[in-house]
Amino acid sequence: MKFFIDTADPAQIKQAADLGLLDGVTTNPTLIKRAGLPRDSALQTICALVDGPVSGEALGPDADTFIKEGLALAEIAENIVVKLPANAAGLKACRALSQRGIAVNMTLIFQPVQALLCARAGAAFVSPFLGRLDDICSSGMELIEEMRIIFDNYGFETEILAASIRSPEHVKQAALAGADVCTVPLDVLLKLLNHPLTASGIAAFEADAGLR
Ligand code: E4P
Repeated sequence: MKFFIDTADPAQIKQAADLGLLDGVTTNPTLIKRAGLPRDSALQTICALVDGPVSGEALGPDADTFIKEGLALAEIAENIVVKLPANAAGLKACRALSQRGIAVNMTLIFQPVQALLCARAGAAFVSPFLGRLDDICSSGMELIEEMRIIFDNYGFETEILAASIRSPEHVKQAALAGADVCTVPLDVLLKLLNHPLTASGIAAFEADAGLR
């Protein structure tokens, strides 16, 4: 499973890259607003920091506007992935941009058939939102499991990008369900290595080695 970081904050992206485990970046309008930079200059900065795919969200509301926005976003850098919502306008724009060789990440996916349509429309990535489903007592893990079965049934190359990750448990669920990519906030990424027995084991070994 590949790891993307879910932020538009260049400092956080550098910190994740320092861990040696950064395959790409996802942003959305909320994350861009939090980073306090205009979208296009934020994306320019991020694309210069990482080699992997960087998702930037196009704004609609109609297919023609999504296509225009997507074409402009694709000019920012070679590794831009245009993010579009999984509705009818987004689907139409996904097909049009994918046919021009522009990578698309279809976002806000909450049921497997949305993902099926997006894969048929040529999406490079589909983003099921685990955390937001769990927030309403629905199962994000079940969604990814079903998407995995459907994609394997038809041999789709579209990658399942687990999003809305709020905890290490969500990362485990995404990996168990067969997600290709998991996009995580920095705090969750750092928590993945935490275990009290690892910390106490290191302390004991260091003491026995005379380092403490
Ligand atoms: C990533 O592509 C999504 O925009 C992001 O993971 C959404 O996360 P949230 O549900 O915590 O806002």
